[in-house]
Amino acid sequence: MPDTALISPYAGPDELLRLKREYLIPCAYHFYKQPPQIVRGDGCYVFDSDGKRYLDAFTGVTVMSCGHSNPEIIKPAIEQIRTLQHTTTIYLTEPMLRLAERLSEVMPGDLSRSFFTASGTEAVEGALLLASLHTRRRRVVAMTNALHGRTRWAMNVTGSPMWRTDPFPLDHVDHLQFGDLASFEKHLAAHGDSVAAVIAEPIQGNGGIRVAPPGYWRNVRQLCDRHGVLLIYDEIQTGLNRTGKWFACEHDNVVPNIMAVSKALGNGFPIAAFVTTDTIAASYTRPGASTYGGNPVSATAALAVLRYHETNDLGSAAEQRGKQLMRGLCELAGSKHGLGEPRGRGLMVGLPIINAQGADDGTQCDAILESLKDAGVLAGKTGPERNILTFMPPLTISETQTGDLLDALYNVLD
Ligand SMILES: Cc1ncc(COP(=O)(O)O)c(C=O)c1O
Repeated sequence: MPDTALISPYAGPDELLRLKREYLIPCAYHFYKQPPQIVRGDGCYVFDSDGKRYLDAFTGVTVMSCGHSNPEIIKPAIEQIRTLQHTTTIYLTEPMLRLAERLSEVMPGDLSRSFFTASGTEAVEGALLLASLHTRRRRVVAMTNALHGRTRWAMNVTGSPMWRTDPFPLDHVDHLQFGDLASFEKHLAAHGDSVAAVIAEPIQGNGGIRVAPPGYWRNVRQLCDRHGVLLIYDEIQTGLNRTGKWFACEHDNVVPNIMAVSKALGNGFPIAAFVTTDTIAASYTRPGASTYGGNPVSATAALAVLRYHETNDLGSAAEQRGKQLMRGLCELAGSKHGLGEPRGRGLMVGLPIINAQGADDGTQCDAILESLKDAGVLAGKTGPERNILTFMPPLTISETQTGDLLDALYNVLD
């Protein structure tokens, strides 16, 4: 139990739902009709207030890739809390700078200069600002069903209707069909000289685990170069070995001009960054700062995360367990009704839930999600119709645990 008078431990889901209803802004959203109170995490599992164990196959949405409370990550972070918790970037501290150095080594191509923030949204916002500063252009191209964040600009490049709440959308953002090269080519032919950047997730996460058609990104890259448009990749979900490589763009051999990363970078500690080349970075010289961006605790944790990924070869782990998961889901899809074709890459996998007529079935997906939770597995749901049952477990998941996940799904579908 947490040793603090501020939190009354294990109040239970009913009391927490009451607090949520009374004290949060109603937009705050949660999964499940009967959500458990999660009180503890350990490796691939989380535990609720009744002591029930769940295999965490959604990782707080691609965050806990190294597992919950991983001692190799929390120990150095706790040590950092004890020695120096905060100064902000107007003072010199080492963890953030070592992290920038390390990121430049793992990033593809010549992406070598970082600006650190506390959330993915801010990294996207910063990436878009940088693109405008560098190109001196205003328009931005984004993709249908993308998710990029909650601030004004990040929400406006978000294509998913569910997350586009701004009542006064910006007029210089155009959304094009994800994966449709012809519309992209046509748009740049007409407006290319006023477009600062195209922003996209190389594999859409919240949009329903969508992988673009082969060759799409290489063609997008070429068209961007032809029109002087920057390519911004939002690898906030796909980065850090989720898809079997450090970054998903490596599957296509495409290097963006700016990349936004977050989530798994901190494995639960808030940190994000946008990373770019020397040349583009040189356009951002006026003062910029983030109070918590690259704070010593999160930066120390992120350094430990990168070391953990490397020493445990989490890229290969994601690839192998991803294949096992995909094989199992394909077998299920071939033998059960109501399932579409599984899709994804590495341990970023989606299974469409469909009705007897083959249409997207978000209601049934919710029912499966709830039953999986009751069976001890936390999965996710994505896609515009919220019907893509989504699995993004820790990259440390074992062969046996992956089998447990598939067994649970098999039993629930039965
Ligand atoms: C692809 C992508 N970009 C950006 C964000 C926003 O990140 P944050 O919630 O840390 O602001 C998210 C959040 O889920 C995301 O999935």
